[in-house]
Amino acid sequence: MTDRTTEDESDDQSKPSIARVYDYLLGGKDNYAVDREIGDIFIKELPGSPAIALANRQALIRAVGAMARDGISQFIDMGSGLPTADNVHQVARRHNAEARVAYVDHDPAVVARSRTLLAADDRTTVVQADLREPEEIHDNPDVQNFDRLRRAGGRHLQRRPAPSQR
Ligand SMILES: C[S@@+](CC[C@H](N)C(=O)[O-])C[C@H]1O[C@@H](n2cnc3c(N)ncnc32)[C@H](O)[C@@H]1O
Repeated sequence: MTDRTTEDESDDQSKPSIARVYDYLLGGKDNYAVDREIGDIFIKELPGSPAIALANRQALIRAVGAMARDGISQFIDMGSGLPTADNVHQVARRHNAEARVAYVDHDPAVVARSRTLLAADDRTTVVQADLREPEEIHDNPDVQNFDRLRRAGGRHLQRRPAPSQR
């Protein structure tokens, strides 16, 4: 993995971040007062917001769990937000300890914080890119390095056999 900075450039507590607001709505701990303030507006004005966020995360858990059980061991999560509150690597590893995940987000603060959170995890990488540019993501050196199969194409999900299937 390259450029795994551990310098936390995201520690700006004066501006809310949608990823941290989302973490708050999910009941996570990776958020600041400025994020909770926005989250509380969501909760007040759109009382279903936490339930929607949780339902969304439950869908992610079901989908990643099903793919991991089916032998998929490489994942690219685009528009990932923070890798917290049961995100892709945590779910996939419950089924396959070798699972590798590339998290992609365009927000530099989210990328910096994610790299800090995952600094000790050498089977994840965090890429700063726009999900509307899938080729840029595919060609990113971290993703190329990550995808050991080096198959052509801008796939969003990478499949390789689980160890038991090789
Ligand atoms: C609500 S959060 C995380 C959602 C998470 N994927 C989930 O399903 O639980 C959405 C994230 O998408 C990111 N995002 C929004 N537009 C994006 C884009 N065009 N390219 C990459 N990331 C984007 C934001 O920065 C934010 O961190």
